[in-house]
Amino acid sequence: MEKLLSAESLCKTYILKGSSNNVLRGVDLEIGEGEFVCVMGPSGSGKSTLLYTISGMDAMTSGKVLFGDRDIAKLGKKELAKLRLNEMGFIFQQMYMLKKLCVLDNILMPGFQAGGDRAKVRERAEQLMRRLGIIECAEREITEISGGQLQRACLCRALINEPKIIFADEPTGALNSRAAEEVMRELTAANRTGTAVMMITHSVRVAAQSDRVLYLLDGDIRGELKLGKLENENELTKRERELNTWLMDRGW
Ligand SMILES: Nc1ncnc2c1ncn2[C@@H]1O[C@H](COP(=O)(O)OP(=O)(O)OP(=O)(O)O)[C@@H](O)[C@H]1O
Ligand SMILES: [Mg+2]
Repeated sequence: MEKLLSAESLCKTYILKGSSNNVLRGVDLEIGEGEFVCVMGPSGSGKSTLLYTISGMDAMTSGKVLFGDRDIAKLGKKELAKLRLNEMGFIFQQMYMLKKLCVLDNILMPGFQAGGDRAKVRERAEQLMRRLGIIECAEREITEISGGQLQRACLCRALINEPKIIFADEPTGALNSRAAEEVMRELTAANRTGTAVMMITHSVRVAAQSDRVLYLLDGDIRGELKLGKLENENELTKRERELNTWLMDRGW
């Protein structure tokens, strides 16, 4: 598998009222092209911070992140924005949807910004919304839909430019099991066509569908479980059991 993304000795320190908090303490990791990786770990262990810094959304304190052969700390603002627009998709807890635009326009925006054919972008947006069951929300304001619908709208937007990788921070967190399955189905489908996924989740069932699980504790990766591609839905229960045992050994 070709390497897509890597972090070396990634550190992030927040300073609040004069005291510093070392949230990431030298994380090393690699994600391959088309790989599906889940990050698990207790609340406050640094998972979201890891996603923000590795994707260039937030600056790291020290260390190195390579996307392909590009060192993201060395990219200018414009180059980084272009990289994010064309090659990365984001589903974050604080969602960056524009309140002035309706749901559909929010989904279309990155597609138009990337200079895609407008009719094709629109068609793709509508197809994604239909598949995720939110087509009836298309013309509504962002504030007029539920948290779960908003989460699915974010997924549509993250997929619009067919990115190389999707960074997702608990994309199924606010969803009931059916909507969570729709989101997972869409992420898995994107993954099957070659999009890598780096996803934070607290759900064992969700993580059991990924290729590899990383366990983060106190800003360090304390273990990884290689599950391999899920080829057959029947294996899911067995994988869940394996992951559960592995997590329990780590004090989950
Ligand atoms: N912008 C910030 N400024 C200062 N401290 C922060 C900031 N963001 C996060 N932190 C602190 O960093 C630590 C890790 O936070 P982070 O959001 O990465 O945790 P997490 O693993 O994603 O937790 P959760 O599962 O609850 O989402 C926490 O102690 C948090 O309070
Ligand atoms: Mg978080």
